[in-house]
Amino acid sequence: MNPTPVHARPAAPAVASADGPTAIRTEGLRKVYPRAQGDLVAVDGLDLTVEQGEFFGLLGTNGAGKSTTIGMLTTLVTPTAGTAWVAGREVTADPVGVKSRIGVVSQANTLDGALTVMENLAFHGRYFGMPASAARRRALELLEQFGLADKATAKTHQLSGGQARRVMIGRALMHVPEVLFLDEPTAGVDPQARDDLWQIIGALHATGQTVVLTTHYLDEAEALCQRLAVIDHGRLLACDTPDAIKASSGAQTVIAVRYDADAAPAADALHHLPGGPHDVDIDGPTVRVRTTHPDGVLGHLLRAGATADLTVRDAITTPPSLQTAFLTLTGRDYQP
Ligand SMILES: Nc1ncnc2c1ncn2[C@@H]1O[C@H](COP(=O)(O)OP(=O)(O)O)[C@@H](O)[C@H]1O
Ligand SMILES: [Mg+2]
Repeated sequence: MNPTPVHARPAAPAVASADGPTAIRTEGLRKVYPRAQGDLVAVDGLDLTVEQGEFFGLLGTNGAGKSTTIGMLTTLVTPTAGTAWVAGREVTADPVGVKSRIGVVSQANTLDGALTVMENLAFHGRYFGMPASAARRRALELLEQFGLADKATAKTHQLSGGQARRVMIGRALMHVPEVLFLDEPTAGVDPQARDDLWQIIGALHATGQTVVLTTHYLDEAEALCQRLAVIDHGRLLACDTPDAIKASSGAQTVIAVRYDADAAPAADALHHLPGGPHDVDIDGPTVRVRTTHPDGVLGHLLRAGATADLTVRDAITTPPSLQTAFLTLTGRDYQP
């Protein structure tokens, strides 16, 4: 058995046009779609850097500008302004150089329905200059790696949604790309297929693959991505680790305690919590505290209750989430 993973790549060269081993850099990247009723600014001046080997996510609601951004980075959409370097090449100056160094899995199923699964992969390898035997060998390895060996001779219409996504990822990896772009890779697939895809994508990243993924799923962004760009109406709202985004956006922790009787008699003590100011709400037997400084609050609620002869029935602490962070950043609820 060959111990080398099929997607192992030689170390990618440092990017000549950027500082350090950068996989992607954008400066003021912008896309405006002209429309009769007024131009639509789909991407509004993005400045981003993605390091080699990073798992980077673009998170945003429907229409935020994620696919347009991916389109510009993969040379399919021409920027209106700004610059982007991908794998060391500028996307408008050297689109062929960029294309040869990236793998793209678009939102739509772009498999060739006239071909078998194996042919879809092998033809892609041939297109990128692989000899026929090498293309076939690599295709077989990838299909095996993704649990699709028994689908090699199937036509693509015989695949489930999740299987089709896996084939598309395999196809995108045929020519050993430096950067793998995945546009909403799990949209519309069932939960089991989603787990399988998460596992496959995570394993690819573990071997050093640089991955750029877009998603409108908060949990997917949080589970997979090392860093996230939160995009809304084409603008970058935050770019950091999921934890840092949650912390820096002022997202609040909610601490709720339910006593065995009305908490109003303890209201004075409950309103004087450590580390305030906090937002305290007493509703019958329940006190709910929203705070950016949760340390010591729960202990205080327990002691204040005990002093007032209240017994705790239930206590729940809900830490800040990307959902609450989005609310803080945009002033509105996250509606994918
Ligand atoms: N080819 C296009 N022509 C005109 N408008 C477009 C085109 N592609 C996308 N848009 C618009 O640009 C905005 C961003 O779209 P898109 O990048 O697809 O967002 P996302 O992928 O985050 O859902 C949306 O308002 C969308 O309707
Ligand atoms: Mg999209």
